Amino acid sequence: MAAADLQQNARDHLWMHFTRMGGFGEGKDVPIIVRGDGCYLWDANGKRYLDALAGLFSVNIGYGYGEEIGQAALEQMRELPFYTNWSYAHPRAIELATELASLAPGDLNRVFFVSGGSEAVEAAWKLARQYYVARGNHGGPLRYKAIARYISYHGTTMGALSINGCPSLRGVFEPLVPEVRHVHNTNRYYRPADETEATFTQFLLDDLEQAILAMSPETVCLVHMEPVQNAGGCFTPPAGYWAGVRAICDEYDILLSADEVITGFGRLGHWFGSERYDIRPDIICCAKGLSSSYGPIGAVIASDRVMEPFLGAKSSYSHGMTFGGHPVMCAIALKNIEILKREGIIEHVRETQDIFRAKLETLLDLPIVGDVRGTGFFYALELVKDRATRETFDDDECESLLRGFLSLALFEAGLICRQDDRGEPVIQISPPLIAGEAEMDEIVTILRVVLTEAAERMRLGG
Ligand SMILES: Cc1ncc(COP(=O)(O)O)c(C=O)c1O
Repeated sequence: MAAADLQQNARDHLWMHFTRMGGFGEGKDVPIIVRGDGCYLWDANGKRYLDALAGLFSVNIGYGYGEEIGQAALEQMRELPFYTNWSYAHPRAIELATELASLAPGDLNRVFFVSGGSEAVEAAWKLARQYYVARGNHGGPLRYKAIARYISYHGTTMGALSINGCPSLRGVFEPLVPEVRHVHNTNRYYRPADETEATFTQFLLDDLEQAILAMSPETVCLVHMEPVQNAGGCFTPPAGYWAGVRAICDEYDILLSADEVITGFGRLGHWFGSERYDIRPDIICCAKGLSSSYGPIGAVIASDRVMEPFLGAKSSYSHGMTFGGHPVMCAIALKNIEILKREGIIEHVRETQDIFRAKLETLLDLPIVGDVRGTGFFYALELVKDRATRETFDDDECESLLRGFLSLALFEAGLICRQDDRGEPVIQISPPLIAGEAEMDEIVTILRVVLTEAAERMRLGG
């Protein structure tokens, strides 16, 4: 189709996700991306963009490996285009499960495949619920409740949505799946200035323990958290946090699930964020970077302890989906992992993350940038009205700043990144893991120009 036809048909027939479909027309086009290479994308009019979001925090190897991954997919199509993981195995699922077991830390040795992140979270909660039944809960109450954190995003299917801590996403779908409580996330930006890191950690751990006690510990099956929380803007954990969460889960015999849908496969400079922070989870959920999003595939990786009650001759995990472990998706994921290893991409993140961070921190001289947070290739800039008082923008200001100005201005300047106000307003930066200093400089240069104009529009002082 020609560009004009694509535009018209997109408006007439395509229903885009989380998109105000009524907002197009009269000068506002549907952004149509037609091609990608490296860290760059091109739209239907031939304009180039630096993708500082790696698709959706997910195209870890960048857009330039289509030939090689396509060849692996083609070979798999020829050999066995589809078979299922329901009662049967096939070589690619076995090979990928073996590879993931070797990459995942500790005794996380068992892999259950799904098609994406929401399905992985869904499967993790169901697994945790059934785990206690399979183990025989000795006549005790059913363990079915879960705990997650405020403002966290874990997906959109009903179970995953229920675990979500974003009120704006949950509200319209209430009542959700019982029963989830949300505890404080690790956002330290708005904590008292004189609070030490150790006090903050203790505050968070006390909050988690209080939530468990209030829910009746013997009814809670899962604590589900990201190693670094994305929504709200890259909340890294304070020292001692993960060791404390692990200890509390052990004390109350609750499974700990690390949502590594974003943080897995190099985003934090390690195969898994669980390794980076020594989280020792019982379950890891992954998707996105598992295939660098060249194909829809996700996985739940369970520890030997979680698997143990499912190894009885008559027991099985009562869950499955047609496309879980699709052989073509497994072939794509295997090739993606081969490329990540061969090209030293995860080492590249580890070696250049400090340079990236230092470049982003130069933006702290702008009156609208209150904080730069994150690690690896995963950063957020907190936008504030007043850097000294940390005063944030109200809802109307967020609407005019983020949706009314920033998203369009950054896109027009050739930069794709995320402007998010699920918590306080932030800009999220999470480029393909192959980004070098030239791309980092381009990101910072465009951000400086656009954020300077944003500050002027919001009439912020220097
Ligand atoms: C941490 C986390 N978990 C789960 C999901 C859901 O993944 P998907 O969109 O593949 O269903 C996402 C998606 O962004 C995510 O960031």
